[in-house]
Amino acid sequence: MNSRLSAIEETLLMGPGPSCVAPEVYEALSTVTIGHMDPRFIGVMDHLKEYLQTLLNTRNRLTIPMSGTGSAGMETCFVNLVEPGDSVLVLINGVFGMRMKDVASRLGASVDTLEFEWGSPVSVADVEKKLAGAHYKIVAVVHAETSTGVRNPVAEIGALLRGSGSLYLVDTVTSLGGIPVEMDAWGIDALYGGTQKCLSCPPGLAPVSFSDRALEALKARTRKVPNWYLDLTMITQYWEGSKRVYHHTAPVNMIYALYRALALIIDEGLENVYQRHATCHKKLVSGLECMGLSMLVAPPYRLPMLNAVRIPDGVDDERVRSALLNEHKIEIGAGLGPLAAKVWRIGLMGHTARERNVERVLAALNTVLQP
Ligand SMILES: Cc1ncc(COP(=O)(O)O)c(C=O)c1O
Repeated sequence: MNSRLSAIEETLLMGPGPSCVAPEVYEALSTVTIGHMDPRFIGVMDHLKEYLQTLLNTRNRLTIPMSGTGSAGMETCFVNLVEPGDSVLVLINGVFGMRMKDVASRLGASVDTLEFEWGSPVSVADVEKKLAGAHYKIVAVVHAETSTGVRNPVAEIGALLRGSGSLYLVDTVTSLGGIPVEMDAWGIDALYGGTQKCLSCPPGLAPVSFSDRALEALKARTRKVPNWYLDLTMITQYWEGSKRVYHHTAPVNMIYALYRALALIIDEGLENVYQRHATCHKKLVSGLECMGLSMLVAPPYRLPMLNAVRIPDGVDDERVRSALLNEHKIEIGAGLGPLAAKVWRIGLMGHTARERNVERVLAALNTVLQP
């Protein structure tokens, strides 16, 4: 009956996510399911919120995992803050900035954009010029652009926005757990992440945090939040307070898994975790360069957890990725949009970010690339 599942072999996940899941997290997933209103489960929820606050470096009370993948986190931030006609500036240099624009537009926002070349970071000087000419209710940017491997200057943009009255909305789906995220120090008002990247959990939850300013904007809405499932005014009544109110059935076992995954990161120490990602990234880049391959992104803007490597002329993108998967049990990612067939995306996310995995992918690529 389970033949389809038993045919699935372990694969080294070195793409843009999901990443490898630690055995402790698999074990947590198989903890007995209990009721989502059970006080023992509420205890896990409360502790998990504290872990998330630690990881995000925030004191925000509203810091919870939303049910759904990273895109649900994106929708949660926009749907709770945007009312029709609101002005939104989206800074775009890849797929996920484009998705933010789409999400905000569908809510009837008046969306303005600043676009940058894929593979280059958002220019702080250009943002400053743009902000001098207009006021926006929300300014949105992706911290770690998974489609290109670029780290955007989130702290610097936050400094520009300080005191401007705009709400600062940041995507940390790929950055969270791999590089520092300083929500309060950087002046971020609404932030979302995802479980399947550097948190090394299966896909299915999206950590979200709202500052007091974002909560005031939510309270000041003239219309109801147009999406019932993601409405934080209702969901907070399940996640906060001495008496919890049912909203939807919490994905109990995924919450166990995230709780364990966060505990692993906090026990290892945030600085150690970031250092492990940086060390693996350096080793990978130097190995790739020794093989004559080159990186898409200039060194200061590279993400440690997502490495975009140029595909050499004459090399068949799909053949290489299939051989890695079928012969070496390693998954790497393809390029997206304008970078399709031009780059591979090698992920070093969370539990995957181990030197032995870097050695394995380098050796496999070396074999597969032999003429
Ligand atoms: C930066 C970024 N934002 C948002 C998403 C969307 O997340 P999901 O695919 O989990 O819905 C992704 C997924 O890769 C991402 O990398």
